[in-house]
Amino acid sequence: MAHPERIVFVCMNQRPPGAKASCGPAGAGEVLAALRAELEARTELWGRVRVAASSCLGPCEQGPHVVVYPDDVWYAEVKPEDACRILDTVSGDRSQG
Ligand code: FES
Repeated sequence: MAHPERIVFVCMNQRPPGAKASCGPAGAGEVLAALRAELEARTELWGRVRVAASSCLGPCEQGPHVVVYPDDVWYAEVKPEDACRILDTVSGDRSQG
């Protein structure tokens, strides 16, 4: 089985109320769902790009955080509506948005 060229990791870490900031309560689940839906619609990326949940990526504040491997491109305060732009960048299609 071929490995994907890129993996879009979405931090899903969930800390309890009152603890240090974390991406889960900041909306990471909605971001993950939006990225997966966008990937599902882009058949040309199937097998080449994977969207995966991750544990804490490190920055924590200004989440949700997304990182594209192996490009080392980081996104902070990601919203579901950013999914299209992120996958445009991953796929090399920067003509939109
Ligand atoms: S909790 Fe998401 S980067 Fe740490």
